[in-house]
Amino acid sequence: MKSIQIAIDGPASSGKSTVAKIIAKQLGYTYLDTGAMYRAVTLLALEHQLAEDQVGQLLELVDQEPISFDRNQDGQQRVFLGQRDVSLAIRDNDVTNNVSWVSALAPVREKLVALQQEIAKAGGIVMDGRDIGTVVLPQAELKIFLIASVEERALRRFKENTERGIETDLETLKEEISARDYKDSNRAVSPLKAADDAITFDTTGVSIEGVVAFISEKAKEILDK
Ligand code: DC
Repeated sequence: MKSIQIAIDGPASSGKSTVAKIIAKQLGYTYLDTGAMYRAVTLLALEHQLAEDQVGQLLELVDQEPISFDRNQDGQQRVFLGQRDVSLAIRDNDVTNNVSWVSALAPVREKLVALQQEIAKAGGIVMDGRDIGTVVLPQAELKIFLIASVEERALRRFKENTERGIETDLETLKEEISARDYKDSNRAVSPLKAADDAITFDTTGVSIEGVVAFISEKAKEILDK
């Protein structure tokens, strides 16, 4: 059967990873959370107290503790640095608030993009991130750009955090999301932006099922062609 590449891009908390995971499962494709890779590199930078001008050292650390993924018994994706399971650590506030400067470093992007392209070679894939449709998989058959209001995205993050037992303040979340949007959209290398051939979908007020149904329909149209 024909398999395609699906690129799902968009700002922080626009629902990308939730829907990307579901679509990948429905199609039996690989799912790759590229944000988790930038977060893992950020964790290394923080653990070793590295600054922007120490990117050479940072890349050496990534070589020593390569990023990999697997699934636990519940089918949940786990992220590893070498042998270490860093799935939870990469969601820490400290990582979230530092990931923008690490992901703006061109050598970091070069390394991770090469890895992402290598993973995509295996066949059907759903990849989510910021530059998938523009840089990583410019040839992807389906490109979706998800957006949602800052208020709604902050509320989603707030609920996620509450479920995980993490205490946060809604106003602070709004500020952090806006700040990350600004940094991700205005960096010099591969800024967050919809590819010319991407379909932009506003998920404000739309359920997860609604977003999944929209993307599945688009994928089906391509697969049935
Ligand atoms: O999707 P996320 O919020 O977990 O991503 C974390 C950060 O990683 C995000 O603020 C920007 C960066 N990122 C990126 O620059 N390129 C990607 N393809 C994915 C994420």
